[in-house]
Amino acid sequence: MNPETAKRYDRSILGNYAKPSLTLVNGRGTQVWDENGRSYLDFTAGIAVSAIGHSHPRWVACVREQAGDLVHASNVFCNLPQVELAEQLCERAGPGKVMFCNSGTEANEALLKLARLHGAATSGKEGVRHKVICAEKAFHGRTFGSMAATPQEKIQRGFRPMLDGFAFGRLNDLDSFRRLVDETTAAIFLETIQGEGGIHAATGAFLQGIRDLCNEHGLLMILDEVQCGIGRTGRFFAFEHVGVQPDAIGMAKGLGGGFPIGAVWIADRYATLFTPGSHGCTFGGGPLAASAALATLAVIEEERLLEAVRERSAAWIAELESIAAEFPEHVAEVRGIGYLLALGLTSDPAPYAAALREHGILTVPAGDRALRLLPPLNVSREDLKTANSIVRRVLAGMPKPAARPSD
Ligand SMILES: Cc1ncc(COP(=O)(O)O)c(C=O)c1O
Repeated sequence: MNPETAKRYDRSILGNYAKPSLTLVNGRGTQVWDENGRSYLDFTAGIAVSAIGHSHPRWVACVREQAGDLVHASNVFCNLPQVELAEQLCERAGPGKVMFCNSGTEANEALLKLARLHGAATSGKEGVRHKVICAEKAFHGRTFGSMAATPQEKIQRGFRPMLDGFAFGRLNDLDSFRRLVDETTAAIFLETIQGEGGIHAATGAFLQGIRDLCNEHGLLMILDEVQCGIGRTGRFFAFEHVGVQPDAIGMAKGLGGGFPIGAVWIADRYATLFTPGSHGCTFGGGPLAASAALATLAVIEEERLLEAVRERSAAWIAELESIAAEFPEHVAEVRGIGYLLALGLTSDPAPYAAALREHGILTVPAGDRALRLLPPLNVSREDLKTANSIVRRVLAGMPKPAARPSD
């Protein structure tokens, strides 16, 4: 960030984020430019948001056209892009209904309300059956429901008391979830692949076990696909890799290709739990946001990006694994699926992200030892190759990390 921008930033922007290192002013495809005209390969994609890269011409044309027609309608009136988008999401998720909002945490708030409605409907009373079982190391967002579902000290500190009725099992340890189920439980709520926690995937066997557990006890199985959905893993939803069908899904991030939009899909069987007046969102599913999402889905479809991610990521992961093997003092493992990848590091990821940035590639840390690599779904083979050689060069130049007391 230039000193003058930094001064203005410090004077006017609330300090809830670490101070950014760069000011971005432009983006095309996988490239972004800072205020000094320096370009970078964007392997953050705005933290898994810019699914089709920056300023895709099809997306820009669609947003421009819709902006000239109708930007906002409110949910007092129907708008056609919203209906079209809901239809397309149901085609991908299954028979059900969709409700729109603006962000991942809002999608999750709606899903937590769904869990409460389900608990009340099945027990015949409010407040009797409202427990939601989530996973340790989960991240679901920063509003009060999502925050209560996110059992991390750094997220909850200063904001207690949390909303009650949450319990936490260990990801991929089915028994730890089974032990928490009792007559007060309404739902199990999981990220299919934990993102902010460091890219940890729920296994197929675990998800199937959760599905069976939910069926056995009449619980909702809710999957948060905010980060791992919308093609990031090479399937539209990450759970498609294991063939387990949830009862409800939360989406956001990649859905709008950069335009803020969130959505929940709820299976038909539970969709009637929401009735007029039970939930709402002024901006949710506005025509401009819905058009941006329709353009994003059209590009994913027309450019066969799910196939591209599946095909290219296999070779990319293999190359990253060979880089990891060359630098075991820095990289413990490569984790993830498709383009939701992380280098599991042996130490704090921040110096690695800074060094990569100096060499022209943007990445984003996750957890305390992972560096995420999240390129747009339409990243070229050449850009992947460039990224690999930058990662190799940076690792070769990094000092050996000091052992931490916990090592
Ligand atoms: C899995 C998951 N759920 C929810 C959220 C919250 O989304 P938002 O920041 O749009 O509220 C995030 C954000 O990183 C996420 O990764």
